[in-house]
Amino acid sequence: MVNKQVLLAQRPQGMIQFGDFNIIETITPVLADGDMLVQVQYISLDPAMRGWMNAGTTYIRGVEIGELMRAFAAGMVVESKHADFKAGDSVVGIMGAQTYAVIQGKHLTKVDASQVPLSWFVGILGMPGMTAYFGLLEKGLPKAGETVLVSGAAGMVGSVVGQIARIKGCRVIGIAGGEAKCRSVVEDFGFHAAIDYKSVSNMGKAIKELAPNGIDIYFDNVGGEILDAALLNLANGARIVVCGAISQYNASEVQGIKNYMKIISARGTLSGIIVLDYFARAAEAINQLGIWLQEGKIIYKEHTVEGIDHFASTLQMLFTGENHGKLILKV
Ligand SMILES: NC(=O)c1ccc[n+]([C@@H]2O[C@H](COP(=O)([O-])OP(=O)(O)OC[C@H]3O[C@@H](n4cnc5c(N)ncnc54)[C@H](OP(=O)(O)O)[C@@H]3O)[C@@H](O)[C@H]2O)c1
Repeated sequence: MVNKQVLLAQRPQGMIQFGDFNIIETITPVLADGDMLVQVQYISLDPAMRGWMNAGTTYIRGVEIGELMRAFAAGMVVESKHADFKAGDSVVGIMGAQTYAVIQGKHLTKVDASQVPLSWFVGILGMPGMTAYFGLLEKGLPKAGETVLVSGAAGMVGSVVGQIARIKGCRVIGIAGGEAKCRSVVEDFGFHAAIDYKSVSNMGKAIKELAPNGIDIYFDNVGGEILDAALLNLANGARIVVCGAISQYNASEVQGIKNYMKIISARGTLSGIIVLDYFARAAEAINQLGIWLQEGKIIYKEHTVEGIDHFASTLQMLFTGENHGKLILKV
C-alpha cells in the first residue's frame, strides 16, 4: 500500500507551523508474524502533541526529528498476522499520523464500532474521555452539592468533566473562550454557568460572583492566569486537578503560579493526572460513559477536518480555539 506519513521535520518555536512537518509517501512493508496492516481512518489531534514535538522526555519521550508523528488513531484491519485480529476488525491505538499502519497486534485494541461511530474511540470512548472520567472521579473526588470549576469547558475533556460533575450532583461553572462557546457550555453541555475568559477583565472577580462560597474542585486544562484566578477562589479543602496547561504549551518560559499560598490557607490539594496510568481500567470508563451517552446524560461533539495533508493547520486549531468539540482528522 502507498502510505502517506506525517514526519516531524523540526521542533516548533512557539506555535506549530506547516514547516514543522514533512509529509512523505512510502510503501508499507511486508508483515512479520504478529503484525497487522491497518487502514487509519481517524487521527486524534491532541494538545499533548505539542509537548511530544519538544526534545527530551517528560511522561513520554519526545518524537525525534524525522520520525513519524505520534498520534492516537482508529482504523480498520486490512491484513492480520496476529491470531486475535482479522481483516475488517476495528482497532484503536497509537498508530501515528499516517494513512496505513503496520503495527504489532499487541499494541492495538479491538473495538465494537457497530453501535457507535468508530471516531468516538479516539474521543469520548478513548483517551480524552478517560482523562475526563478518571481525572474528575479519582483526583477531583466530587460530592453532591459541591461547586466545580472547569477550564477549557467547551473542549473535549472539559465538556465531559463538567457533564460528569453535573451527573454527580455538583454545581458546575465552565470557563471558555468567546460567546458562542460559553452558550454551548450552558445550553448543550448543561453547565450551570459559563465565563468567557476572552471578554472578562477580572477573572478572579468573575469566578467569585458565580461561586461566592468558593470552588470545591478546579479542573484545570489551561494553566496560566486562569489557574491563578481559580486559586483566589478556593473553598476549604479544595481539590485542584492539574490535567493540562494549554495556555503554556507554546510559551518559551512557563508562567509560574502567583497565588500559590491560597492552596495553604484553603488546605487544598493539587494533583496531576496522566491518563496513561488508567489505561488498564479503560473498560470501566468506556462502559460508564457509554451508558451516560445512551441515556442522553452526556452530549458529545466532534470537530472533524478531512485530509492528512491538513495535519499541521488542523493541529493549530487547538491553540487558536477554532475547534468546537473533539478535534479529529478524517483520513
Ligand atoms: N493529563 C492528561 O493525561 C491529559 C489527557 C488529555 C488531555 N489533556 C489536557 O486537557 C486539555 C484539553 O484537551 P482537549 O483534548 O480536550 O482539547 P480541547 O479542549 O478540545 O481543545 C483545546 C482548547 O483549549 C483552549 N485554549 C487554547 N489556547 C488557550 C489559552 N491560551 N488559554 C485558554 N484556553 C486555551 C481552546 O478553547 P477556547 O476557545 O475556550 O479558548 C481550545 O479549543 C489540554 O490541556 C490537554 O493537554 C491532558
